[in-house]
Amino acid sequence: MMSRLMVLGSGGREHAIIWSLSRENRGHELYCAPGNPGTALLGANLPVDLSDAASVLALCREHNIDAVIVGPEAPLVNGLVDDLTAAGQSVLGPTKSAARLEGSKLYAREFMAAAGIPHPRYHACHTIDEARTAAEQEGLPVVLKADGLAAGKGVVIATTGAELEQALQRFYITRDFGAAGSSLSIEQCLTGTEMSIFALCDGENYTVLGTAQDYKRAFDGDRGPNTGGMGAISPSPLATPEMMNQIDALVLKPTMAELKKRGIVYRGFLYIGVMLVKGIPYVIEYNVRLGDPETQVVLPLIDMPLSELVDSALAGQLPPAVALKPLSSICVVMAVKGYPEGYKKGLPITGFDDIIDGDTHLHAGTRMTGSGLVSAGGRVLNIIATGSSLSVARKQVYERIGAVKFPGSFYRTDIGI
Ligand code: AMP
Ligand code: GLY
Repeated sequence: MMSRLMVLGSGGREHAIIWSLSRENRGHELYCAPGNPGTALLGANLPVDLSDAASVLALCREHNIDAVIVGPEAPLVNGLVDDLTAAGQSVLGPTKSAARLEGSKLYAREFMAAAGIPHPRYHACHTIDEARTAAEQEGLPVVLKADGLAAGKGVVIATTGAELEQALQRFYITRDFGAAGSSLSIEQCLTGTEMSIFALCDGENYTVLGTAQDYKRAFDGDRGPNTGGMGAISPSPLATPEMMNQIDALVLKPTMAELKKRGIVYRGFLYIGVMLVKGIPYVIEYNVRLGDPETQVVLPLIDMPLSELVDSALAGQLPPAVALKPLSSICVVMAVKGYPEGYKKGLPITGFDDIIDGDTHLHAGTRMTGSGLVSAGGRVLNIIATGSSLSVARKQVYERIGAVKFPGSFYRTDIGI
């Protein structure tokens, strides 16, 4: 059925969502707010500040939007879904109270403890002295995690006393993370292999949409600072049927039961990061949305129209499972030198302006100017490939990436190895 759909956000994730919807060829009218030059090729971009619920609602009314899909976490944590729902707008995304699973790391840990979900030992700390005492009790290495949203930068793994002291100074003295870092979860540092699970929830039921492995560090060999993500592959090589059964029994089912117990109706995407320690999936974090760039690899493998999934989630009638294509997908992020710290913007991009195939190329931080496409963020472009195996997809993606250029670009050469 044709719908008027509006996706909120402006990154590669949102371009991937709009691309998937456009590929259905059902004549949907697509809108992206605020969108990027990639989404502008597939629908109408509507400039808006996502922290301003009244403006988002006005756009929905003006364009008669049937359903809104929220991309990023900040508007969810700020309660945008509550405001839109109260005004009668159909919207896919968790409410403010449900979004605390991502918005407060301490709430998430308390939730996992109450639900009996495997998680690292943690201490809730609100002052520098509490944090120092907890870290000393835990021993090195120790994880310091800002309670609030910190754009993927709020986690420090201190391996020496000096690193611990420096991190404490950043949280409590120079206040690098502002209010988000004034409370901390001081955690046992687990060692294991990580994977991400993506589910969709309809308030009652959930369906697993796929799995991914992401590459958080900036440089090859998992070196350099943590970033929002430099690449991803799907499915995760760790996602065996046995492990997925474990994750279902130890993580997903207890999460849903605990939500219900707390009277929280969760409707939207749920992305869970787990670390496997001796075969047990420990939850590292909940995210109340899809990942970026994980969405770019998860959506191409779903063998069902995305709009049908959205409709069924909104109607509380999710299918128990979705079929996945027996393929592998890969995404490599092209970023600007200096990312994730300081970097230049406005760099001219060549070899990309005429490419409109979202199966192979997606925009992230780009901007269209009178003289062509330029960079507008740290993560600029996503190059994608899907193949019969990871090695086939990997070969293709690195062939594709060679054609696209901008000054000071860099990307990891070891995604999918
Ligand atoms: P997060 O933002 O919570 O996903 O944390 C970023 C990264 O820090 C994770 O992907 C893990 O690699 C690492 N991390 C977070 N918490 C822990 C922990 N308790 N033990 C070990 N590594 C962790
Ligand atoms: N790529 C990590 C995230 O979206 O949180």
